[in-house]
Amino acid sequence: MPESLRSDRPSERRSAARTSVVWDALRPALEGATDVLDIGGGTGGFAVRVAELGARVTVVDPSPDALAALARRARELGVEVSGEQGDLSSLLEVVAPDSVDVVLCHGVLEVVDDPARALATIREVLRPGGVLSLLVSQRHAAVVARAMAGHFGQALAMLDATPGGDASGASRDARSSHRFTADEATDLVTRSGFEVSAVHAVRVFADLVPGSLLDLEPGATAALVDLERAVSERPEYFPLAAQLHLLAH
Ligand SMILES: C[S@@+](CC[C@H](N)C(=O)[O-])C[C@H]1O[C@@H](n2cnc3c(N)ncnc32)[C@H](O)[C@@H]1O
Repeated sequence: MPESLRSDRPSERRSAARTSVVWDALRPALEGATDVLDIGGGTGGFAVRVAELGARVTVVDPSPDALAALARRARELGVEVSGEQGDLSSLLEVVAPDSVDVVLCHGVLEVVDDPARALATIREVLRPGGVLSLLVSQRHAAVVARAMAGHFGQALAMLDATPGGDASGASRDARSSHRFTADEATDLVTRSGFEVSAVHAVRVFADLVPGSLLDLEPGATAALVDLERAVSERPEYFPLAAQLHLLAH
């Protein structure tokens, strides 16, 4: 059982329940990787753990606050992660073409103006044979979440909001972020010149289970992780997943 599932801190156990499927898929892709780029890596939740596995990790993120938090987190864990201020539109100014073995793009494609162009840029920095780890919000679950929160109009507007359809930089908010179905994400990645090797459903149940249950019931988090793993490769669960994880090369 991963250390984080046994943690005394409920927030760590909940985080483990949300990310275990991604780590299961990502770990083999990181084997032998020397240079890893976490684009939009934020405060480094993934980046520091990748650095702990031994890779040289660079986080590029537009937020100075996030980069400062990343530096603190890396220092506390005694790992080195290089933080660069930048974003997907200017990535090639900070990262050389053909220089990266694995790119993590987690929770970022939702907020860029042009997801297809962003993926083309990522392709340029990857070495031949390099791997893209893409984590995106899944639209059907987002519609359900909005409706359950009583935001019926937002849920309705989101129903047919295909990626790229309504994104207009300055006005983008939670309603107009790009969200993807499994088919849309796969098509987009494929059209950007990648071959998709795996699609996983992420957080099918984790966001629906009351936090108190995980906090109070011994073994509940580990059992939830088992369940998340069991459904992650079943396409019938893709529309229920809060996120989709794609591996592509
Ligand atoms: C939802 S957070 C995800 C953070 C991290 N990747 C994770 O999975 O925990 C989105 C991150 O994308 C960054 N971001 C926003 N716009 C971006 C852009 N155009 N290019 C790259 N990163 C961007 C934000 O600063 C933020 O840190």
